[in-house]
Amino acid sequence: MQPSNRPKRPHFSSGPCAKRPGWSTSLLEAAAVGRSHRAKIGKQKLAAVIDRSRSLLGIPADYRLGIVPASDTGAVEMALWSLLGPRGVDLLAWESFGAGWVTDVTRQLKLEKARSLVADYGELPDLSEVDFGNDVVFTWNGTTSGVRVPNGDWISADRAGLTICDATSAVFAMDLPWEKLDVITWSWQKVLGGEGGHGMLALSPRAVSRLESYVPPWPLPKIFRMTKGGKLIEGIFRGETINTPSLLCVEDVIDALAWIEEIGGQRVAQERSEANLASIARWVEQTDWVGFLAARPELRSCTSICLQITDPWFRGLDESERAARAKQLAARLEAEGIAYDIGSYRDAPPGLRIWGGVTVENEDMEALLPWLDWAYHEVKAGG
Ligand SMILES: Cc1ncc(COP(=O)(O)O)c(C=O)c1O
Repeated sequence: MQPSNRPKRPHFSSGPCAKRPGWSTSLLEAAAVGRSHRAKIGKQKLAAVIDRSRSLLGIPADYRLGIVPASDTGAVEMALWSLLGPRGVDLLAWESFGAGWVTDVTRQLKLEKARSLVADYGELPDLSEVDFGNDVVFTWNGTTSGVRVPNGDWISADRAGLTICDATSAVFAMDLPWEKLDVITWSWQKVLGGEGGHGMLALSPRAVSRLESYVPPWPLPKIFRMTKGGKLIEGIFRGETINTPSLLCVEDVIDALAWIEEIGGQRVAQERSEANLASIARWVEQTDWVGFLAARPELRSCTSICLQITDPWFRGLDESERAARAKQLAARLEAEGIAYDIGSYRDAPPGLRIWGGVTVENEDMEALLPWLDWAYHEVKAGG
């Protein structure tokens, strides 16, 4: 029997993620469209994104925060290409995005002093092996495996190297120890439910001094360049973007930030996401066909919640059949209008990835769970 209660919003994609509850295109009417982003109004709006993000997140006053091109990828690439080289680098990866940064540093930048610490889906590398005399590159939350680092205790406070953290699916949903991170990146379309295309880049004073004292041996395209004549281009961190941003997207993210302020800020935002993880955890506990991809509870992401199918029947299928059945499961829920885009990421083990970030209402998450059982049993029965 199909469950009777349907999620009001079937948006459980891990990016772009659900818009905030109550969102409507009418809020975009306030956008400074058709105006220069360098006019006073455009600059004010860009500065508002920076200032409100900084204040909501509690970013230290001496950190720079800027809006950069090409989403989170753009922000990470700017950092890797501008900063790496003078020291060895420890590259931590436990799913495909982290693995992408490993490839970049080893195959594109071809850094010889790079060491990869890699773990399989569902696990973390041994964090005690990290050498903080090196620069360290890692994701806070591995979006495609649903594994996050549990906290920042493993990061040395008096490190010599820089910590470069891709935190795109964590910021606003998880606590970050800003002082232990030298570069932090994220994008608007994840936890905030904003739009794609724009990256946020936060830099510690130590990251800035590296930028001002080191010139990489490789060429840097204009959209990566953060210094001029050996000095930081401070304007980038006041809203004078390197190239043209979308003022529609800017308006949209201002609305998202205003919503976070309205609900009570960062703490309430995190609680909303943790409540979604808790709902899934309770259901997993009672359900015999499914388990978390992350075996250790303290590593389980509250945003990109990744599940694997543990049913012995499913485990007995061959690899391609497992992938096909898991796809069918997600497709069935999409066709019913119950859940969009919850198939696991293409490189991850077949299963489900359900976004539980701040913009997802807990009642929708609760309403989804009986549907997962329904769809799974339909797929298993060959329906
Ligand atoms: C951990 C991580 N890094 C990088 C990216 C790429 O982000 P963007 O598309 O904003 O460049 C994603 C997107 O899902 C991600 O989850």
